[in-house]
Amino acid sequence: MAESTKSAKLTIDGTDYDLPIYSPTAGPDVIDIRKLYGQAGVFTYDPGFTSTASCDSTITYIDGGKGELLHRGFPIDQLAEKSHYLEVCYLLLYGELPTAEQLEDFENRVTMHTMLHEQMHFLFRGYRRDAHPMAIMVGVVGALSAFYHDSTDVTDPWQREVATIRLIAKMPTIASMAYKYTLGQPFVYPRNELDYASNFLRMCFAVPAEDYEVNPILSRAMDRIFTLHADHEQNASTSTVRLASSSGANPFACVAAGIACLWGPAHGGANQACLEMLREIGSVDRIPEFIARAKDKNDDFRLMGFGHRVYKNFDPRAKVMKESADEVLDLLGIEDNPVLQVAKELERQALADPYFAEKKLFPNVDFYSGIILEAMGFPTSMFTPIFALSRTVGWISQWKEMIADPQLKIGRPRQLYQGETLRDYVEMEKR
Ligand code: SDX
Repeated sequence: MAESTKSAKLTIDGTDYDLPIYSPTAGPDVIDIRKLYGQAGVFTYDPGFTSTASCDSTITYIDGGKGELLHRGFPIDQLAEKSHYLEVCYLLLYGELPTAEQLEDFENRVTMHTMLHEQMHFLFRGYRRDAHPMAIMVGVVGALSAFYHDSTDVTDPWQREVATIRLIAKMPTIASMAYKYTLGQPFVYPRNELDYASNFLRMCFAVPAEDYEVNPILSRAMDRIFTLHADHEQNASTSTVRLASSSGANPFACVAAGIACLWGPAHGGANQACLEMLREIGSVDRIPEFIARAKDKNDDFRLMGFGHRVYKNFDPRAKVMKESADEVLDLLGIEDNPVLQVAKELERQALADPYFAEKKLFPNVDFYSGIILEAMGFPTSMFTPIFALSRTVGWISQWKEMIADPQLKIGRPRQLYQGETLRDYVEMEKR
């Protein structure tokens, strides 16, 4: 924990309270209010945690004003261009870029854990074929704790490490199985000779009736999407994983909680919602109608893929994603994709509109990812499962950091109670 070099003075009913201030290596100072209730008998109030730091962390830093995203200090645009997903996983988990030997060992350990316990295949049979793949992922990931008992004891560093590798290794297998199940096609087993992204594409798109060759440009784009979604400070789903883990629950159950939170359209579900919105707009001449709706206070419609709690400038991931969208669509010869045309014109008109400039609403990571994923052949229902697959390393890195903290306490927020005060039970005949 950083040393406090200054303090904030709070005066309540004439009594002064000195609250320590800590200065981070980057970002705003924080005021330590841990002793406030004990000293002053008051709570702070911050629904949505817009001004609250829930933990100290060394993993990811976002500068919302500059539109900067750093993983262990390395900017996301450099990682997206020069690194690859499993190397970024290593960086997030262990804090430094790996040597060639460390990376080879890490990738081999992940490769050796990509298969799912055969008995788990029966779990999928319990779902309707038209189940949303996220509903399947929440259930199956939670059920991992029923099959891998030898890596559920969070007090054992070795078991924590095994659970970490298992989750990163098995998420592509589970996500592809969820997709195949909804198609009514047989599951495709992972192949050890393929890289992480190629393995996932093959498990999603290969069929027993013919060989499947992974297009290297598509697997590179897939790997870049994984990298761009890997971690993002204390977002809603990561905070869910941290809070669930603070009770000592096993990592599989905690990641299942994170998947459930990510599913919401305000969070990871936005990539699916964004593509559905672009399709509903349908053509560039209808864009003004939707921009007007987004600005109308009486209409709860929002431009999906726009806005962010932290970024009040361009989401740096959206910039990289936009480049990938152009590459993939050029490769596939669908650069005149009508949805992409609507997306680019919507972005141009929105960014030129004073309302969005004033509210600092820029395209976020979800704005372009859906366009790439659709071009690669994924249905919109698979967009958020792919986000969940990518973010597993972020959830697990933040979990490892928290679980290893000797000061770990169970998360237990308080409240501003506005309900009835004490009153006696009323018998039925008197109601
Ligand atoms: C992700 O936290 C993370 O890091 C998340 C994420 C990650 O990697 O984990 O980055 C991934 O979830 C990206 C965000 C994906 N969600 C969407 O694209 C859904 C659309 N966006 C909005 O729902 C919204 O922008 C949020 C939820 C993303 C952020 O909401 P905030 O910070 O709580 O902001 P707000 O709702 O208080 O809005 C501030 C103002 C409001 O107007 P006023 O009430 O002040 O007049 O901006 C307006 C909002 O009405 N506004 C929008 C808008 N987003 C906010 N108006 C139109 N369209 C939008 N998209």
